[in-house]
Amino acid sequence: MRIDVLTLFPAMFDGPMTESMMVKAQQQGLLELHLHQIRDYSNDKHRAVDDTPYGGGGGMVLKPDVLVTAIEAVTAQQADIPVILMSPQGRLFSHKIAQELAQYDRMVIVCGHYEGIDERVRQLAVTDEISIGDYVLTGGELAAMVVIDATLRHVPGLLGADGAEERDSHADGLLEGPHYTRPVVFRGLPVPQVLQEGNHAQIEHWRHVQALRRTWRNRPDLLRKANLSDDDRYLLAQFAQEDASKY
Ligand code: ADE
Repeated sequence: MRIDVLTLFPAMFDGPMTESMMVKAQQQGLLELHLHQIRDYSNDKHRAVDDTPYGGGGGMVLKPDVLVTAIEAVTAQQADIPVILMSPQGRLFSHKIAQELAQYDRMVIVCGHYEGIDERVRQLAVTDEISIGDYVLTGGELAAMVVIDATLRHVPGLLGADGAEERDSHADGLLEGPHYTRPVVFRGLPVPQVLQEGNHAQIEHWRHVQALRRTWRNRPDLLRKANLSDDDRYLLAQFAQEDASKY
């Protein structure tokens, strides 16, 4: 997958994109990352990229001429490349959207800054707008890196062939349950017996119950959308009863 990122702060990508899995992805040819300095597309003698907003109000707005020229320059060879604007006004990023984006072989990510971008950039050159959460960051760079990382996990090959991403939290609508490794007892806390015994059907069942319990405790909102069986509903009622009997 080729990703072109338009940013005022390309150096922010050093580190997250030059370590660990993102390096592996680039070495394996699964990710081709191109960082473009938005300022390079300004034709102003001071290389200005922003201006004051019409109608007043605080802050500065990214200029449409600079951004649209930058986007057109990186999409010039191919017409149908998705252009994703990172912004707190976008649709909320999720496991599902990461899977969706992983289908593309190219995309452009635009990192906004300041108070925002001139609306005409959206109208003329942006095809999608994504937020990573209901809070406002100082710019779209961190959000872009989150999207790139989560999307790459769904590109076949990155995680090997064991399908680890399909066991992730959120893959089936539930959070993942607990994991353990050696030692078998750590500071008096043992690894649950069922994991030590190696009965795969029992382990699967135990993991599912744990996932359900963790989701119920930490993200009950997810249970409304999850695909629950009658057994799951029975377990949820049990969790609630156990909880009530504690007090
Ligand atoms: N830019 C600023 N805040 C953001 C957010 N929550 N998601 C994506 N881009 C952003």
